[in-house]
Amino acid sequence: MKLIFLGAPGAGKGTLAGTVSRALKIPQISTGDIFREAVKNGTDLGGKVKGIMERGELVPDDLTVELIRERMSRPDTRGGYILDGFPRTVPQANALAEFQTIDGVINFQIPDDVVIRRLSGRRVCRSCGAIYHVDNMPPKKENVCDSCGGELYTRDDDKIEAIRNRLQVYRRQTEPLIAYYRELGLLHDIDSSESVEHSQVQIERIIHRLRS
Ligand code: AP5
Repeated sequence: MKLIFLGAPGAGKGTLAGTVSRALKIPQISTGDIFREAVKNGTDLGGKVKGIMERGELVPDDLTVELIRERMSRPDTRGGYILDGFPRTVPQANALAEFQTIDGVINFQIPDDVVIRRLSGRRVCRSCGAIYHVDNMPPKKENVCDSCGGELYTRDDDKIEAIRNRLQVYRRQTEPLIAYYRELGLLHDIDSSESVEHSQVQIERIIHRLRS
C-alpha cells in the first residue's frame, strides 16, 4: 500500500502515520523527521534547512525531491510506505509521479483553531521521536517518554509565530494538492479534528476499500 498523508501542520499526520505504518508493517517516511535529524546531527543538509524550518517555511523543492528519491530507492519501500509531509507543493507532486504510483492520498481536514491548540501543546521525544500532547495524549510522567524514557521537548517551529506562518504557507503552497489529487481520483478526506481513534477508524475503512 503506497499512501500519502496530506494535511495542515498539526492535523495528526505524524501520529497516525506511526500507528498505521506499524499495523501495515510499512515504513513511515517523514521529510520533517529527516530534516530534524539532519539539524540535530549538524550535517550540511541540517545547516541548510535549520533557519527555514524555524521560520515555518518550506525547504526548496529540488533539495526535498532529491532527498526523497534517495530514501525511496531503499529496499524497505518495495512493499509500500506512508509519505508523511511529502509532497507539499505541486512541483514535488509532479516529481513524485515521475518515479512512483500512489494508491491513495488521505486528506486530514481540521480547522485552524484546533491546529493551534494541538501544536502549542505538542511534546516530542528527543530520543525516539514519539509524539505526545500535554492535554490530549500526555505521557505517564511529565516530560518523560513512555516508550524509551527519553526527554520530551517542544519543537522550535511550534512557537505561535511559526505556527501562524506554517498555516499560511500550507494554504498557499500545499492546499492546491487537494484539487490536484482529487482530479486524479486518489483523494480520500477524513475529519481529523476529533480523537486519534476517530481518525484511525476512518483511515482503516479507506485502506479496506483500497484493498478490495
Ligand atoms: P513536518 O514535520 O512535516 O511538520 P508539519 O507538516 O507542519 O506537520 P506536523 O509534524 O507539525 O504535524 P502532524 O500533522 O504530523 O501532527 P502530529 O501528529 O504531530 O515539517 C516540518 C518542517 O520541515 C516544515 O515546516 C518544512 O520547513 C520542512 N519540510 C518537511 N517536509 C517538507 C517538504 N515536503 N517540502 C519542503 N519542506 C518540508 O500531531 C500534532 C499534535 O496533536 C501532537 O501533540 C499530537 O499528540 C496531537 N494529536 C494528533 N492527532 C490528534 C487527535 N486526533 N486528537 C487529539 N490530539 C491529536
